[in-house]
Amino acid sequence: MMILSPSLLGADFKHLEEEIARIERGGAKYLHLDVMDGAFVPSISFGMPVLSSIRSCTDIVFDVHMMVEEPARYVEDIRKAGADIITIHAEACRHLDSSIEAVKKTGAKVGLALNPATPIETIDLVLPKVDMVLIMLVNPGFGGQKLIPYAVEKVRALRKHCEELGLQMDIEVDGGVNLKNVREIAEAGANVIVAGSAVFGGNAEENSQKFMEILKDCES
Ligand code: DX5
Ligand code: ZN
Repeated sequence: MMILSPSLLGADFKHLEEEIARIERGGAKYLHLDVMDGAFVPSISFGMPVLSSIRSCTDIVFDVHMMVEEPARYVEDIRKAGADIITIHAEACRHLDSSIEAVKKTGAKVGLALNPATPIETIDLVLPKVDMVLIMLVNPGFGGQKLIPYAVEKVRALRKHCEELGLQMDIEVDGGVNLKNVREIAEAGANVIVAGSAVFGGNAEENSQKFMEILKDCES
């Protein structure tokens, strides 16, 4: 299934409830929540208090992208704050297998993220353990960047690899996705599409609708 996961980082933080209602009306089924620690990435965003606060105004799937060093330390709290999917970075975990197990233990779905320069082979051994792989198309830390073309090739290679293994994997992409390039990215094999500035940079409801039209077209 093709899913749009608008990144809240691109929203107007004065009006989070309205922003979320807009993307839901536009057809988005996930909300992408970027938790940044100022160590794994240069920036600091938001954490548990913001998640649990907005949890009360929506039933949308919380797709939490943890850009945090040793994320296993926080996954229980992130889950309690309302996460449905918890994505951790392979580069941020010294003991990746046990960090994946820590996410599984919370009952959340497990996502595994890779920075643009990290080869997909890095996660080969743990692929069967995860529900989703997040291929970063930009260096994480900020919204509004331009995507790095070679990262899209990783999506294509990963989809092919999963098909060969018979794995029904969700492949999420994040960074620099817009209405012009989303079709090519979906055709490369991504089925969970994150977009921040391209959704919230204008009318978030209309933009979500436009993304959904393209994604539905790719599905058929
Ligand atoms: C970047 C974040 C993204 C970001 C995407 O580090 O992980 O989710 O909000 O923003 P755009 O779509 O504007 O590149
Ligand atoms: Zn993200």
